[in-house]
Amino acid sequence: MKCIELVFSRIDEVLDIIDKLIELNCISRRYVIIRDGNRLLIPVIEECDADEIKGLREFRVVECNPKELNVRGYRLRELVREFFGDEVAIHVPSSFDIVDGIALIPLHDEGLKYAKVIAYCLTLIHRNVKSVYVKGAVRGFERVRELKLVYGEPIYEVIHKEHGIKFYVNVGKVYFNPRLSTEHSRISSFVRDGEVVLDMFSGIGCFGIHIASKNNSIVYSVDINPYAVYYGLKSLKINRLKGKVIFINCDARLLDKVFKGRIFDRIIMNLPHNALDYLDIAFKLVKINGTIHLYLIAHSEEEALNMFTAKTNALGFSCSDIGIRWVLDHAPHEYIYCIDCVGVRAMNTA
Ligand SMILES: C[S@@+](CC[C@H](N)C(=O)[O-])C[C@H]1O[C@@H](n2cnc3c(N)ncnc32)[C@H](O)[C@@H]1O
Repeated sequence: MKCIELVFSRIDEVLDIIDKLIELNCISRRYVIIRDGNRLLIPVIEECDADEIKGLREFRVVECNPKELNVRGYRLRELVREFFGDEVAIHVPSSFDIVDGIALIPLHDEGLKYAKVIAYCLTLIHRNVKSVYVKGAVRGFERVRELKLVYGEPIYEVIHKEHGIKFYVNVGKVYFNPRLSTEHSRISSFVRDGEVVLDMFSGIGCFGIHIASKNNSIVYSVDINPYAVYYGLKSLKINRLKGKVIFINCDARLLDKVFKGRIFDRIIMNLPHNALDYLDIAFKLVKINGTIHLYLIAHSEEEALNMFTAKTNALGFSCSDIGIRWVLDHAPHEYIYCIDCVGVRAMNTA
């Protein structure tokens, strides 16, 4: 078969031609790329038009005999190292997310130039991945992530499955984190038939739809982002539910006025950066002896509990039982915790 031979002293010198071969779908996915010191032999498919890459860099088309590619058991970093060497492999992130056919990878600035090469290897291991985006910052109160397409066609709307439940997700328009699936399921396991639940920052409604799939309960799912409500409503149509989910597009700050006297058995507050700022509203809306699940960011369990109890005390409320649980890592030495405040009471009635 034919290989493109690239000779270099640093891999960076030939990145543009490798990126172009990836873009043109020229590299054969059936065979390994051979790295031999400072020489790469890249197997190319017959239809590859070498004219497209002429002028980019000096290269030769040579006869080659690469092994068939077998990625079973390979981790992404190992495959990248084997094909492109350590200088690229050190930039491979230790974890990434896959939402249906889309992979979302975090890369540091120095790793960005290798994004296409890393993305290509990722699609060799995860054959269902058709597009790869590099994760940017999460912006605005809607918590939507900036994304840069580095491999494949743009796909935004997909159907993602969590514990058998289907969600329409548009990663460019709404907050979504597939790592919360265990948490969605955990909270839904506490809910009993007949409960009325409020999810104050629902995103696309994962908590609500999990709950209503298991219980004959009513969940009010509130989000300020109209796209979150749009995709939540779409997901209702593709799941069989025992209970009901009612989506409301509004600012949680207004909920005491929206619900005018209605109260809830359980309130979910998943806005880790500033859920505490809305706790006064939650206390107005929760039943005596009801439950609040509040997510916050802290350096330790102790700090999280201190932040929560300081705020509840200041607002004149207490919980008869408090649980805390690590949910996700947020940044080095910063974690997202969920505080389960069971048996909410105003202090003067405790
Ligand atoms: C961390 S995400 C929630 C994720 C969701 N619970 C899940 O499990 O996928 C926070 C959500 O809160 C919404 N949000 C932010 N500020 C809000 C506010 N003041 N009122 C209502 N929703 C708000 C954002 O649009 C975002 O969808």
